[in-house]
Amino acid sequence: MRMYDIIMKKRNGGELSDEEIRFFIEGYTKGEIPDYQVSSLMMAIYFRKMTERETLTLTLAMAESGDKLDLSAIKGIKVDKHSTGGVGDKTSLALAPMVAACGVPVAKMSGRGLGHTGGTIDKLESFPGFSTGISNDTFINNVNSIGIAIMGQTADLAPADKKLYALRDVTATVDNMSLIASSIMSKKLAAGADAIVLDVKTGSGAFMKTEEDSFALAEEMVKIGRGSGRRMSAVISNMDQPLGLAVGNAIEVREAIDTLNGKGPEDFTELVYTLGSRMLVLGGKAENEEEARAKLEEAVTGGYALEKLAQFVKAQGGDEKYVYEPDRLVLAPVRKEILADRDGYIGHIDCDEIGICSLMLGGGRETKESVIDLSVGLLLDKKVGDKVSKGDRLATVYAADESKLGAVGERFLNAYHFSDDFVSKQKLIKGII
Ligand code: URA
Repeated sequence: MRMYDIIMKKRNGGELSDEEIRFFIEGYTKGEIPDYQVSSLMMAIYFRKMTERETLTLTLAMAESGDKLDLSAIKGIKVDKHSTGGVGDKTSLALAPMVAACGVPVAKMSGRGLGHTGGTIDKLESFPGFSTGISNDTFINNVNSIGIAIMGQTADLAPADKKLYALRDVTATVDNMSLIASSIMSKKLAAGADAIVLDVKTGSGAFMKTEEDSFALAEEMVKIGRGSGRRMSAVISNMDQPLGLAVGNAIEVREAIDTLNGKGPEDFTELVYTLGSRMLVLGGKAENEEEARAKLEEAVTGGYALEKLAQFVKAQGGDEKYVYEPDRLVLAPVRKEILADRDGYIGHIDCDEIGICSLMLGGGRETKESVIDLSVGLLLDKKVGDKVSKGDRLATVYAADESKLGAVGERFLNAYHFSDDFVSKQKLIKGII
């Protein structure tokens, strides 16, 4: 079998056989097939798409490309959560400790930023000393002792996805349904949780821009998971504007901590409660959504969720003081306010553009080798449906130096579209499977 023939077959719109898919996944994982050939195949898949059968084979081949975590040493129903990626999506940072504080063991594997979207691992590294590069044993021990652990994808867990993820990130091949479904589900299957809650984003800041595509992606992933014996649920949530107000890394951690203190932005808080309720029900800690919500609220008001975050940060080498004093999380020194250049209502935001503004500031990767600046980002003041007058502050930019401020400011303003007429607030939850 030759990689050249596989690329050509897909380029010409053909359907790859199971053997061909397994061949390129095995060869790429072992380093026998170079990045440039796999980039080419990713682009061919991007344009020609994959059938349901191809997607399932790709998922299983990637899940089996390395070791699988055996979580049987952890008591209870282990619940994992994964987002398809968005702008300002710091959900796991607040959700995982809240759910763990309610007694559901959270054994979660997270990723780094992808394309214009941020990643949980990058954000968590804002806590000095914090590491997600923990061993499988530490991962399991921490879940058993404090109820929560988050690890990065190790070199031996779904390594094919690890390599493909980094490659797709810099070759404009992220936003394809089959590639996203197989990427997410391969690592979720390899990571061994009993139940998985998916947060499938939809809108201009998501990889799936339309609700139709987002529901289809959610259904495909739920089907793959259930077919592998997992309890599954998916929430389809709005990503037509950034989630919450903070976009970046350390700045998002601050917002997640505010939320655990009961002072988070309304949309972000609502999403965390919706996903958390699903996790509690799937994890057998609540009979229904209502009971789950009450438990989650108690975890926040009683301070247990914040305490759980502190235990988690400490257990993974971070400084827990930052949890109780979030102002210690360093934000970049150069600040610039972006002001509205007219009166009106915020009618629409090109949400991916806001993610790109953060990336341009250094908060995301331009190449596989990029080192990101955790202190940069944006803090929004206005979102869709807000009424503004000329001169009102739309956002504050946090930059390392002056050099990018002009370009970022201009890009940000171009992403905000005004309307003279009243615009209603956006609905956050679009559906639940
Ligand atoms: N998250 C992932 O893990 N993979 C994707 O392809 C997209 C979002």
